[in-house]
Amino acid sequence: MSDTSNRPVLVVDFGAQYAQLIARRVREAQVYSEVVPHTASVGEILDKNPLAIVLSGGPSSVYEEGAPQVDPKLFETGVPVFGICYGFQAMARALGGSVEQTGTREYGRTDLSVPAEGGALHQELPVSHPVWMSHGDAVTKAPEGFTVTATSEGAPVAAFEDTQRRFAGVQYHPEVHHSPHGQEVLRRFLHDIAGLRPQWTTSSIVDEQVARIREQIGDGKAICGLSGGVDSAVAAALVQKAIGDRLTCVFVDHGLLRAGERAQVERDYVAATGIKLVTVDARERFLTALAGVTDPEQKRKIIGREFIRVFEQAERDLKAEGDYRFLVQGTLYPDVVESGGGAGAANIKSHHNVGGLPDDLQFELVEPLRALFKDEVRRVGTELGLPETIVQRQPFPGPGLGIRIIGEVTQERLDTLRQADAIAREELTLAGLDRSIWQCPVVLLADVRSVGVQGDGRTYGHPVVLRPVSSEDAMTADWTRLPYEVLERISTRITNEVAEVNRVVLDVTSKPPGTIEWE
Ligand code: XMP
Repeated sequence: MSDTSNRPVLVVDFGAQYAQLIARRVREAQVYSEVVPHTASVGEILDKNPLAIVLSGGPSSVYEEGAPQVDPKLFETGVPVFGICYGFQAMARALGGSVEQTGTREYGRTDLSVPAEGGALHQELPVSHPVWMSHGDAVTKAPEGFTVTATSEGAPVAAFEDTQRRFAGVQYHPEVHHSPHGQEVLRRFLHDIAGLRPQWTTSSIVDEQVARIREQIGDGKAICGLSGGVDSAVAAALVQKAIGDRLTCVFVDHGLLRAGERAQVERDYVAATGIKLVTVDARERFLTALAGVTDPEQKRKIIGREFIRVFEQAERDLKAEGDYRFLVQGTLYPDVVESGGGAGAANIKSHHNVGGLPDDLQFELVEPLRALFKDEVRRVGTELGLPETIVQRQPFPGPGLGIRIIGEVTQERLDTLRQADAIAREELTLAGLDRSIWQCPVVLLADVRSVGVQGDGRTYGHPVVLRPVSSEDAMTADWTRLPYEVLERISTRITNEVAEVNRVVLDVTSKPPGTIEWE
């Protein structure tokens, strides 16, 4: 591994929603990146020893009072800089160019014109090609020493570069898919202008994390709770690769899992990793605790509370056997950025903030995914040989099927919902729709009955709801327009194969106003 592999490209966040996306695109060009707030001083930026700096877009006009500016000293550090949108204008201004309100705003798809020379950023790209713009002000004069490499109707200087000083910038958003050559332009800045080597690869991530985990854990022992989801599965697999059977995983079967999930963990995941696994069968305990409960919030509280109790007991049992000092968690980079915690955030604390945990249950956290985005986590999982069923799994809520039964949770209702859910998942997979939908909860309206006719008899069964949604991040979502044939197959199979269900309905509500889950 080369000594530059840990040094980041820093994406300075000027308050646009695009900073994390830019950081991901930098990594797609195989260069490690981190996001820093625009309030970071030049000194703080240099402390991170950056390979290059990307100034992101932002919502303000550079002329607005209090608009974030770029400290001109940044350009005297010798670090290559790339400005995007607002960052491009702030850069132009800091280096002595002009930014003006030209009166021609550009929002959305815009044609970019590339002059014959095109420079390092745009050479040999189509003379005219679409880009995504979002600006009112425009750079009207590039700073001294810069060449203009693209223009548009509303932006006389739509891109500039000074390859000597390793500075460049674009008015448009190269990070979004609507700029089809954007990734190539970003790559050219990183590789050709800044001279960075593409060395952030999945195998380098694995090597580096394994080395770090070994350093942190030494000859200690670690525990990891597996949920069946991607993050904990990949985190545990990395730690297992680093410390072998000094890691023990705990999987709690709360009885609210979907069909086949326990087997996926106990059989497929263990076969792929050789991980040491303890399954706690707590199905009875959860059913008993949930008996008679219909209120969604109360269900969630009970499931959360029981889960912590069961997991803590498993921790105590393990601690009685050996010196388990470390707890593995699948925290991802977006959580770190959003909670404002940089690399220096405290890493010794109890594992859940429930308060009142006895001292003997204190752990040091191991968070091997702390620097990674979700797509990187999936690639690491694949690199480590984990089954596709786990690596590509769609989101599934912690409280499981417990919050997809509207009404009291009972064993019979769980069995009914599990069957219906398995059919829906199977048909969606067969139709090749797994990647295009975010998730498709199946909800059992256990307290509702409707009349039906099956065979020669009248039935009085329950409806299930299909809730297919498309989303980027689960904060907002739209209902997915599934092909009618697929809906038909799911409906026919569920009503034929699941005795208690005589009606299948489709939820066509976006989020907001609806949430994705029904409870
Ligand atoms: P809502 O229903 O709030 O769900 O639109 C947004 C996303 O979060 C998932 N979800 C949960 N995930 N524990 C989880 O780990 C939970 O308690 C929980 N509740 C909802 C939901 O499946 C969707 O992806």
